[in-house]
Amino acid sequence: MLITFEGIDGAGKSTQINELADALSARDIETVILREPGGTAVAEQIRHLLLESSHEISPIGELLLFSASRAELVQGVIMPALASGKTVILDRFFDSTTAYQGYGRGLDKELLRSIIAISTCGLTPDITFYLDLAPEEALKRKFAKTSLPLAFEGDELDRMERSGLEFYHNVRQGYLEIARINSERFVCLNALDSITVIHDRIIALLGERFGA
Ligand code: ADP
Ligand code: TYD
Repeated sequence: MLITFEGIDGAGKSTQINELADALSARDIETVILREPGGTAVAEQIRHLLLESSHEISPIGELLLFSASRAELVQGVIMPALASGKTVILDRFFDSTTAYQGYGRGLDKELLRSIIAISTCGLTPDITFYLDLAPEEALKRKFAKTSLPLAFEGDELDRMERSGLEFYHNVRQGYLEIARINSERFVCLNALDSITVIHDRIIALLGERFGA
């Protein structure tokens, strides 16, 4: 089974993934946790280029780099893990590309569909948990322990996070639209709920749908 988590930066994906992984391992379900971009030696180098470098990258270049990282991860790690019966939990997958490069950067959705089909070999998650959070709230979380101004700019942020508030509003609207179009696969969760409330809902939904 392939379970993905989506949402803007700081929505609580990693927190929920850790909680879920603990719950699944307590039930002896063999689980692999991965994140995009990254997960193979080459994909981690691409991650570094995309997030930590100060190079300017064009929207198309960015799309192709995220997609190259995805192709490496899908073929090198995800497909083999699924084939051996493991449950894969993935922190971001192709919905991030539609939300960030499509709705955020404004790239053509048809172009994205073709490139996503190539980079994923057609692999689609069984279920996607989308944590919905306003960008302003994500900023508050990001800077909770600092006195820095609440803005999507500055050296302490990665290259994507420096894209500005309007970009993040577009990404969030994109996610809401993607969730509406893919309602059979997407589960929308209010990221403002407590960590426990969200976790319990995820466990209940997996139980209902898959008997997990
Ligand atoms: P993401 O992986 O989506 O970037 P994280 O899981 O790293 O998000 O969470 C970002 C920050 O928000 C962390 O400091 C985390 O402890 C906090 N956080 C996560 N979930 C919640 C929640 N439901 N309510 C309040 N704070 C949360
Ligand atoms: P990461 O630190 O992994 O996520 P988060 O900040 O949510 O914990 O950063 C990954 C960044 O890359 C994030 O800003 C989303 C972006 N991204 C895309 O723009 N397109 C994609 O296809 C993927 C997978 C990620």
